[in-house]
Amino acid sequence: MAASEIGGRIAWLREEIERHNRAYYMRDAPTIPDAEYDRLFRELQAQEAAHPELVTADSPTRRVGGAPLAEFGEVSHEIPMLSLANAFSLEEAGAFDRRCRELLGCEAIDYACEPKFDGLAISLRYENGIFVRGATRGDGFRGEDVTQNLRTVRSIPLRLAGSEWPRLLEVRGEVLIFRADFEAFNTHQRASGEKEFVNPRNAAAGSLRQLDPKVTAQRPLRFFAYAVARLEEFGVSPAPTFSRHGELMDWLGGLGFPLAAEREVVRGVAGLAGYYEKMAARRHALPYDIDGVVYKVDCLADQERLGHVSRAPRFAIARKFPAEEALTVVEAIEVQVGRTGAITPVARLAPVFVGGVTVTNATLHNEAEVRRKDVRVGDTVIVRRAGDVIPEVVAVVMERRPMKDLFGGEPLHPGFELPKTCPVCGSAVERPADEAIARCTGGLFCPAQRKQALLHFASRRAMDIEGLGEKLVEQLVDNAIIKTPAGLYRLGIPALAHLDRMAEKSASNILAAIERSKATTLARFIYALGIRNVGEATAKDLARYFGTLEVLLRASETELQQAPEVGPVVAASIAHFLAEPHNVEVIEQLCAAGVRWPAGEPATRLAIPLAGKTFVLTGTLPTLTRDEAKDRIEALGGKVAGSVSKKTDYLVAGADPGSKFDKARELGIPVLDEIQLKELLES
Ligand code: IVH
Repeated sequence: MAASEIGGRIAWLREEIERHNRAYYMRDAPTIPDAEYDRLFRELQAQEAAHPELVTADSPTRRVGGAPLAEFGEVSHEIPMLSLANAFSLEEAGAFDRRCRELLGCEAIDYACEPKFDGLAISLRYENGIFVRGATRGDGFRGEDVTQNLRTVRSIPLRLAGSEWPRLLEVRGEVLIFRADFEAFNTHQRASGEKEFVNPRNAAAGSLRQLDPKVTAQRPLRFFAYAVARLEEFGVSPAPTFSRHGELMDWLGGLGFPLAAEREVVRGVAGLAGYYEKMAARRHALPYDIDGVVYKVDCLADQERLGHVSRAPRFAIARKFPAEEALTVVEAIEVQVGRTGAITPVARLAPVFVGGVTVTNATLHNEAEVRRKDVRVGDTVIVRRAGDVIPEVVAVVMERRPMKDLFGGEPLHPGFELPKTCPVCGSAVERPADEAIARCTGGLFCPAQRKQALLHFASRRAMDIEGLGEKLVEQLVDNAIIKTPAGLYRLGIPALAHLDRMAEKSASNILAAIERSKATTLARFIYALGIRNVGEATAKDLARYFGTLEVLLRASETELQQAPEVGPVVAASIAHFLAEPHNVEVIEQLCAAGVRWPAGEPATRLAIPLAGKTFVLTGTLPTLTRDEAKDRIEALGGKVAGSVSKKTDYLVAGADPGSKFDKARELGIPVLDEIQLKELLES
């Protein structure tokens, strides 16, 4: 290639690579397969290696990270990076709107609304379309020069898209990590024994402040733009003009900057309230963390008129969500015994307001988790309560761990040990080697399991017995009034009347609710039994498939596995449950007490002629593809397995069968050719 051709090829490669970067990071819509992208990238690397004089700072190959720094340089922000005033309620947002209206002397204001990204603020400087410098916020006036690191962030354009560039552009925005990328990154860190991060924000901060840009390049950082700090001297005339924040953002989008998809312009305080509610509801569906929303007066001239107070603009405010993480102290670590005996360690906490409620308990999931996080009594911990998810301990603040003496030495409290016996019934606690969860082996002999089983039985989506709550179940079990769910249907006023807080009225209300619960559905009944691994959906599948309780009770483990969505684990759980005579006894007692359900639709099992039959396919069939054969077998309820075993019912063999054929012969399993298979399918 001639020199000019090589230059042209390199320019084309760079443009092409950045175009795909934009498609990927701005629209989440990759335009080419990864392998093709890698090929372009490697070609560019090779060309640049052969022609070092043609390497430019804005080449995508520079994103891999250069030499490590001894320390970051300092950057002074000519336009300071301000903070935002916060509003924590609708009233405070209303006060902001009122102030703006008074100062501007107008009736109603249009606001540009955006998510408040929970990452790190940065400033990016472009000269004649080329990225030349990037800095952290620092104290707002002076930040750190993290240009080398920001070059590795693929969603930051190294060269602006298009060709109409201002001489100087300073863009402000946020660097963050998507939640899914964060999880994957932490999993990788854990696997390789490296430090894990507490949350995506900390991971982003830690990654951005790496002195070695090669490390930063390995981190899944992203960028979103939300403001323009400086915009000077357009090379084109007439220069574009902007009258609204929203227009400015759209223009940034055109230059290749990722923007939040959730931007919206609303009017007045009702609009502000609506946007907040909407984002509060969508928050957990976004790919990244946000800690609130930002309201900005949309009209740029009005922004100017409103100006600033000390370190924040008067034209914008952040409306914060209730914090989802807070610090508190672990007062004790106890274990809870669940319905199926699962032993869950729980941290008892000094009360703390987080995620909009006061939290006093947080789950520690299981023994391995407590060990991994090394949570101990007396520790200061980060507690997280996100949405409706149960509160959990995220991490220990190790610097605050109480020590035996002032200057370190040993921790005051020992590490957590799971009890060897159930704290409620004293039965042995066991943990199968391949499971994370330890269980009390007491079964329904354990009052804790009994209580949980009763609560589950009575719960809304099971038998729906209104009023049968924790307090009542506790008394019923502790006073040995009932032992199993069947006992509920033998209760009378006298048994209830002398319990705490049980006026005759509420006793008869409970009895009426118990009576009402007798009319139920088979699915609810199955679910209410509380069989391990049988949730609501599985209970519905079982009811639909088997049609009647009698058929379900008689089903073998293999037959159970024929039901849709029922695999070996669920089938084993059910079989195990039904193998216990006392479980069957309870079921019989419940039916005898009058629990009943309408005879449902005819069982789908009957419409499934190949139910229980396992096929293995081998060799090439004359007309059917593997997938077609599999689909047709499965449509009739059969299963297709990958290898031949004693459980195989038929081997379907085509041309050039392999070792499966010999194995089937050896085991005496019937072998079908395609014609015989079709006959079987059609019969
Ligand atoms: S605008 C002049 N918009 O919030 C206004 N800031 O307290 C400058 N932030 O650290 C800020 N999302 O990094 C703006 N959509 C958004 C934002 C946002 C997050 C951060 C910003 C700064 C803090 C301000």
